[in-house]
Amino acid sequence: MNGFFELASRRESCRNFHNRPVEKEKLTACMEAARLAPSACNSQPWTAHIIRNPKLAAEVAATTQAMGMNRFTSQCPAFIVITEDKALLTATVAGKFKSQDFAAIDIGIMAAHIVLMATELGLGSCILGWFDESRIKDLLKIERTRRVRLVIAVGYSADDRLRPKVRKPLEKTSMFID
Ligand SMILES: Cc1cc2nc3c(=O)[nH]c(=O)nc-3n(C[C@H](O)[C@H](O)[C@H](O)COP(=O)(O)O)c2cc1C
Repeated sequence: MNGFFELASRRESCRNFHNRPVEKEKLTACMEAARLAPSACNSQPWTAHIIRNPKLAAEVAATTQAMGMNRFTSQCPAFIVITEDKALLTATVAGKFKSQDFAAIDIGIMAAHIVLMATELGLGSCILGWFDESRIKDLLKIERTRRVRLVIAVGYSADDRLRPKVRKPLEKTSMFID
């Protein structure tokens, strides 16, 4: 099978990275794919800090590790740190009206674009929600008032086969109302 379903099936969270550096062009392509992501009112409420410098990457890795979590990030050569920008007023007002956090939803979608593009380019990736936000802000000189929403670890996988997917059955998660 080819196409989107095959790509989505091939994407998995990589927790075993090769120490080979990631080409800047590939990370740029991931960010081009992120630019195409939909967002509420086309607000695009995100900024990404892309880290390839080995010393800085090791420091970012350290901010994702506590209580035994995410030890594998020490091997990862690149990170994309995503911060939330102020959304357009229309998106913020619409979100308040509907009690929805559109900016967080938008960032989830753009993160999906990043990891799927990474997969397409032969890269492994892992979305990380477990990180020390305050430490990352200090490290990357991000204003205290901004939120860091996600960190994405990106590199070449050292695994030569994919894991089987563990997912809830379709019947449990999708209800067709005919
Ligand atoms: C918002 C979010 C936060 C996550 N945080 C972490 C994390 O901190 N560490 C980790 O190893 N995996 C993390 N993951 C990866 C999930 O564990 C993974 O996507 C899930 O188990 C499904 O496995 P797969 O990605 O290999 O298909 C995160 C995923 C998402 C979407």
